[in-house]
Amino acid sequence: MIFRATVLTLFPDMFPGPLGHSLAGRALESGLWRLDARDIRESATDRHRSVDDTPFGGGAGMVMRPDVLDAALAAVADDRPLLYLTPRGAPLTQAVVRGLAAGPGVVLLCGRYEGIDERVIEARALQEISVGDYVLSGGEPAALVLLDACVRLLPGVMGAADSADEESFSSGLLEYPHYTRPADWRGRRVPDVLLSGHHAEVAAWRRREAERITRERRPDLWAAHLAGLRAGAVATASGTP
Ligand SMILES: C[S@@+](CC[C@H](N)C(=O)[O-])C[C@H]1O[C@@H](n2cnc3c(N)ncnc32)[C@H](O)[C@@H]1O
Repeated sequence: MIFRATVLTLFPDMFPGPLGHSLAGRALESGLWRLDARDIRESATDRHRSVDDTPFGGGAGMVMRPDVLDAALAAVADDRPLLYLTPRGAPLTQAVVRGLAAGPGVVLLCGRYEGIDERVIEARALQEISVGDYVLSGGEPAALVLLDACVRLLPGVMGAADSADEESFSSGLLEYPHYTRPADWRGRRVPDVLLSGHHAEVAAWRRREAERITRERRPDLWAAHLAGLRAGAVATASGTP
């Protein structure tokens, strides 16, 4: 099964953009995933090929029309999840990314202007996803972020050397610090334990550092991590798998 991404956008030339380079670009070229960026305007039916209109109830800006968006979605809908990128969506987390990367692909709807008519979200049961608590001018950069995060997890995309197993979020913690040569750079020395060749001590140090960084920088992740550990301990004590 090849991961297929369809992006519905008013700016199809923005794709593949950064996804045409490096890891994702090589994977795209070698057919490990597919990308189809479609112009929403092609689904417009009036003389001016309009895709937006003024908001009912008044207010600033324009809203993307439900009939045009529905036609664009109908042309590509299959068994893949339909996602609308929006700041009010569920946060894009590594767990969400893992789930999407394990599936057949995604159809991504990129909004512009003030956003899209609510009725198409309901009618097509669009899953709303946000890439962060800030407002972009359009869904395209968010779609690029989501696809980049998914594609690198697809089988064959990352080499064994770039394993995702120890990355930030893989165990609910942020990642430990990395160092490379020179061992002494402007008087800043690499921690001795990393030069010791003692694998168990290196692993323990990395674990402690990952915990410290998560505790200091992301109290929300740290609390979730502790809750997970407590739940695991309770399950073990009660014999629940
Ligand atoms: C200017 S924004 C609209 C913002 C909207 N009026 C609001 O206040 O939530 C235009 C489009 O950018 C995209 N967008 C903006 N911020 C985003 C975010 N944080 N995550 C995902 N998509 C975003 C959405 O597709 C949205 O329809």
